[in-house]
Amino acid sequence: MSKLIAPSILAADFANLQRDIEMVNASEADWFHIDIMDGVFVPNISFGMPVLKAISKHATKTIDVHLMIVDPDRYIKTFAELGASILTVHYEACTHLHRTIQAIKDAGMKAGVALNPHTPVAVLEDVITDVDLVCIMSVNPGFGGQSFIENTYKKVSQLKHLIEFSESNCQIEIDGGVTDKNANKLIEAGADILVAGSYVFKSDHPIDTISNLKNQIA
Ligand code: DX5
Ligand code: ZN
Repeated sequence: MSKLIAPSILAADFANLQRDIEMVNASEADWFHIDIMDGVFVPNISFGMPVLKAISKHATKTIDVHLMIVDPDRYIKTFAELGASILTVHYEACTHLHRTIQAIKDAGMKAGVALNPHTPVAVLEDVITDVDLVCIMSVNPGFGGQSFIENTYKKVSQLKHLIEFSESNCQIEIDGGVTDKNANKLIEAGADILVAGSYVFKSDHPIDTISNLKNQIA
């Protein structure tokens, strides 16, 4: 399966949001990655439902929503209505993760689970055949523009083994500090989707940056 690029809108220019969405639409990117933060699960607040609604109105590609919020079950249906195709919750934010995964699927979305840098892959052993995506955080969630944590490669390999051993169809997404410097090594370790925020939006020509990254990992 071809490898995917998901620009993170967190790094877009919010005063020119439609322009940046149209850029992603016109680019070789595959998904929109949307970071929702509540100031409780993570020490930052990004944006919420009205902004996602505005993004959905213009986005022509898959909307991949990454919830960095406590008790995400409260909003599963809302995110489905707002256009999310994939809804990712944090392992660390869910007391009854299996129930949450089922609720996401019942709402018609693909279910993802994100792991903080300190959370071992092994905690997903008993749900790996239920999830569609695992997002390995390669930075501590909450902010764009942080440095990539090198231990991520090991976790990606471990997750890849778990997926193969379990005969799961789950995809591996990497989120945080992704650049042209670590992209190939991540793909070699087993990653399927690379989220890139600052690397794309802070570059001089984001559309070319996306194209180069996509071709680099093809
Ligand atoms: C971090 C977010 C990431 C972030 C990535 O909490 O989940 O999606 O936007 O940004 P960069 O690519 O700048 O590290
Ligand atoms: Zn994210």
